[in-house]
Amino acid sequence: MEIDGPESLNQLVTTAVLGAGFRRATFAGVTRGNTASPWVRVVVRPVELRGERCLQFSYFDAKKDTTRNFLPTEATTPLSEVLAVGFSGIHIATDAEELDLRTTKKGKVLVGWRAVSGAPVELEPHNRVKDVPLPEGRADRLLEVMGIATADGKVRPTMRAKFTQINEFLKQLRHALDAAELRDLGRPVEILDCGCGSSYLTLAAHHYLNNVLAIPAHVLGVDVNEEVIRKSAERSERIAANGLSFACGRIGGIDVKPDIVLALHACDTATDDAIAQAIRGEAKMLLSVPCCHHALNRELRADGPTEVLRPLLRHGILRERTADLVTDAFRALALRIVGYRTDVVEFVSTEHTARNLMIRAIRGASVGEAVHVSEYREMKRFWGVTPYIETALGEPFTKMVNVV
Ligand SMILES: C[S@@+](CC[C@H](N)C(=O)[O-])C[C@H]1O[C@@H](n2cnc3c(N)ncnc32)[C@H](O)[C@@H]1O
Repeated sequence: MEIDGPESLNQLVTTAVLGAGFRRATFAGVTRGNTASPWVRVVVRPVELRGERCLQFSYFDAKKDTTRNFLPTEATTPLSEVLAVGFSGIHIATDAEELDLRTTKKGKVLVGWRAVSGAPVELEPHNRVKDVPLPEGRADRLLEVMGIATADGKVRPTMRAKFTQINEFLKQLRHALDAAELRDLGRPVEILDCGCGSSYLTLAAHHYLNNVLAIPAHVLGVDVNEEVIRKSAERSERIAANGLSFACGRIGGIDVKPDIVLALHACDTATDDAIAQAIRGEAKMLLSVPCCHHALNRELRADGPTEVLRPLLRHGILRERTADLVTDAFRALALRIVGYRTDVVEFVSTEHTARNLMIRAIRGASVGEAVHVSEYREMKRFWGVTPYIETALGEPFTKMVNVV
């Protein structure tokens, strides 16, 4: 459907935002107003403040965000200011409908509309910190676009495991942001999602930081598969997300220096490549959930010092699990050697994925600690292997651990 130009658009938006069933509005995309925009995105939502319903305006510029609360009777002026910016993409959700308003280069206003059902949403206290990063049970455009939830907010049974993984991953990200002091950089935090696949985590991390935690963030998803990158870019357009981009290529082949590197189930040695990318780019934080571990499995032999482990290594499944654990131990140790405080945790229960270990690393420890170097050498000698992480890190690392 098309409507007549900016005045009808402004009227439609004002009626929805100031109406009783209003849930959320996001203004983003290219700006086509007469003056330069101070903001790259504005989000408006109802909040409860000292027992009264208010409208909270969150203004995001390239470096920081500012939040201001208005009584609905006072909100007309700030809303007109936002409309004057001429954002090309406006998404509005109310208790009854969702509106997607797109203004084309030629000034045409295209309206996407659909009815929504479900109980009216309760107001959130203005400063409430949600425990669940992506709550379920209410209409959520992002979850719907990702294919995780239906239009009325029900998580699809087949997507339940992925939904839980993403929520638990985001909780880890939230905790690590504080530990790595990345909440307030005075500029958007740069995030790279390695092996992003269908980009559930990429989109969710972008939304969670920018729209929920109000931490300005740019997120780049990289994957070697052209088709998933094409689909991810399409999804990103549908939610009119700023600072969210995708690149097709191998991990490590794209020249970026992110603050945070994420990798969720990047296949086999792609996890090592993600770790190497974080280290080379001096990323402040890495959160990586490894997937299959084939490389080391092929190298393990019950030979020399490991002869005693023959009863373990002769059984395929025990050998596979041993290879998994040894691979991740080498990865975590390599990170410690190059100066990352590193631990390995279960980020989600095995009910949601058997691949549930997360390597968490934060830059800032001392580099080349003798105890770690010695552990690394001993572990290599014992297992008689060269873990792929060593290959991925290359000469600077091999020199440090004196591998000849
Ligand atoms: C199991 S999927 C995980 C996708 C996503 N992170 C998730 O958890 O939903 C692994 C993805 O890694 C990508 N991949 C594997 N090796 C890669 C490499 N060396 N460089 C870039 N992408 C890679 C694959 O194409 C695939 O999309």
